[in-house]
Amino acid sequence: MKNSIKHTNLYLAILNRRSVRRYDRTVLDQVLIDQVQHLIVSAEPLITENHFDVRYHDGMLIDRDFISSMGAYGYIVSPPHAIAPYIIGNHYPLVDLGYRVEQIVVKLTELGIGTCYIGTLYREEDNRARLDLPADSRCGALLVFGYPASSATGRTLNSLMRSVPRGNSRLPLDLLFHQGSFDHPTYPTDDLLPILNAARSSPSAVNAQPWRFLWHEGELHIFVKRYNQKYGLGPGQAYRYYDGGICLANIKLAMNAQELEGEWILPNHGYNIPSHPSTLEPLAKWVFR
Ligand SMILES: Cc1cc2nc3c(=O)[nH]c(=O)nc-3n(C[C@H](O)[C@H](O)[C@H](O)COP(=O)(O)O)c2cc1C
Repeated sequence: MKNSIKHTNLYLAILNRRSVRRYDRTVLDQVLIDQVQHLIVSAEPLITENHFDVRYHDGMLIDRDFISSMGAYGYIVSPPHAIAPYIIGNHYPLVDLGYRVEQIVVKLTELGIGTCYIGTLYREEDNRARLDLPADSRCGALLVFGYPASSATGRTLNSLMRSVPRGNSRLPLDLLFHQGSFDHPTYPTDDLLPILNAARSSPSAVNAQPWRFLWHEGELHIFVKRYNQKYGLGPGQAYRYYDGGICLANIKLAMNAQELEGEWILPNHGYNIPSHPSTLEPLAKWVFR
């Protein structure tokens, strides 16, 4: 496998993206809003049959509806823009949703635009009603965006809030990665490093980092922990799917950055899933072409 990074800006956007909670008041100009719209329609699907769409108000500007749909968090962030991406479909809807939204997020980062996911799984029904989303849709998280605050206090608040869910820390690869079998976690070989560093940099709700990786017979298998204490009890446990989808997107984008070809295969396609601990759930495998 060749592993030189040809699209450095894309790769750096994956690695360097951070959640932004304090924003400049400046709104994006129409050219940028058009670009965001283009990113939305061009996000690559994981499952083509699922229907992906985004709800927003004029100019994607934040308004009262959005603030209330964000719950208490609406009073903390100051984003000029917000969208509610949602998906309708029976197969892995939350995984596919995270997959598509993270592509938008990374491309926004490349454009110098800050983003933050605002999880909605604990109030999905309420969110659906407030934002008039289709009854059979899944939303999982709102996405707020804009220019990061440039003032000293704004910058301080951004780094302070990142440290609350320990957003500035990621689990080391030699805890996340396995080779051949799940016997012992280990450090990956150099050729896999750019991909796995992109994978482990993925954002996740409360920075839970549910993903685990297995390199098995020339294919990369992604699993998620079935139970994640950080998500709390109840509907929040389903964040593992949304976060898992984000991780699949970062891997795919890192493949693109290296011009490596391949595709995701999902468990419903009936592939041979390598033996794994019962605490892990298979999400997908990457097959190189
Ligand atoms: C699905 C999802 C939901 C999130 N919900 C919230 C939220 O409601 N409030 C918040 O402050 N951050 C939220 N975050 C941001 C995470 O806390 C953040 O991504 C994580 O701590 C890692 O930090 P980083 O994004 O700065 O790298 C969410 C992230 C994801 C992926």
